Amino acid sequence: MIIVTAASGQLGRLVIAELLKRVPAERIVAAVRDPAKVADLADQGVLVRHADYTDPASLDKAFEGATKVLLISSNDLGNREAQHRNVIDAAARAKVGLLAYTSVLHADRSTLSLAAEHRATEEAVRASGLPYTLLRNGWYVENYTVSLGGAVAHGALAGGAGEGRISAAARADYAAAAAAVLASEGAVEQIYELAGDTAFTLAELAAEVSRQTGKTIPFHNLPQKEYSEMLLNVGLPAPLAELIADSDAQAAKGALFDDSRTLSKLIGRPTIALADAVKAAL
Ligand SMILES: NC(=O)c1ccc[n+]([C@@H]2O[C@H](COP(=O)([O-])OP(=O)(O)OC[C@H]3O[C@@H](n4cnc5c(N)ncnc54)[C@H](OP(=O)(O)O)[C@@H]3O)[C@@H](O)[C@H]2O)c1
Repeated sequence: MIIVTAASGQLGRLVIAELLKRVPAERIVAAVRDPAKVADLADQGVLVRHADYTDPASLDKAFEGATKVLLISSNDLGNREAQHRNVIDAAARAKVGLLAYTSVLHADRSTLSLAAEHRATEEAVRASGLPYTLLRNGWYVENYTVSLGGAVAHGALAGGAGEGRISAAARADYAAAAAAVLASEGAVEQIYELAGDTAFTLAELAAEVSRQTGKTIPFHNLPQKEYSEMLLNVGLPAPLAELIADSDAQAAKGALFDDSRTLSKLIGRPTIALADAVKAAL
């Protein structure tokens, strides 16, 4: 049984879709907080089990018969380390043959503030004694494309990454990588640094939006504090606004850059091009 946690999330759903191309549905378990959210997956023959990161007993039940577990990191910022430890401990009790974890790019040396929880989780994964794979995911291109509608409406793209080159990739690419590792019958690596093939600056993203819309959308770089305040003003919760502004400030110094092309090698195709991601979003 291949267990995918947080299978109700955007990445989790894509991982299940990729797994369905590779292994029979009855070998896949969607482990979720709310089974009602993934009734469509049950309709496709995927086993759906209740699994809450804050409830170890639910994790033990969800991991019955597990051979491999993909722990998709929680979105509960600040509480993730303890939640992830619960999942890792349950995987260790179930003696799974592989524990894969969606970490962050260059977690060991990343200057992103959000990397701290990933580093702590990676340590716990290693300490579990289980065979493991760290899928160190770079930035989702959707982190930027999700707000392109607003940028077009306002006639400018705001951000804080300056001239930093960002090797973002689509969630679908990271999902294909996770599925490739989970479905592999052979040996897999312990660490994959996963990022898009072609890095871009936010000015280049704005230029691509301009090209596709026929409107001039300049990039306005903002200092970290101003960008954080702008995100607060458009309705983001304070911790998320601070985290995004911090990530962009670190990206300006290269924290989201990687040119190893490990992701495209793992999935056996080029990563989705920026132009296609922009087109899909617009
Ligand atoms: N690399 C990047 O650029 C980037 C960007 C954003 C996030 N991330 C990380 O990648 C993860 C996956 O991304 P995503 O886009 O799929 O996020 P998402 O759509 O927000 O999904 C988050 C998932 O976490 C689940 N979850 C939260 N708390 C849980 C708990 N206590 N027990 C069990 N499940 C819990 C949610 O379950 P419910 O459906 O029940 O809420 C949901 O399935 C995120 O959670 C975050 O850690 C990475």
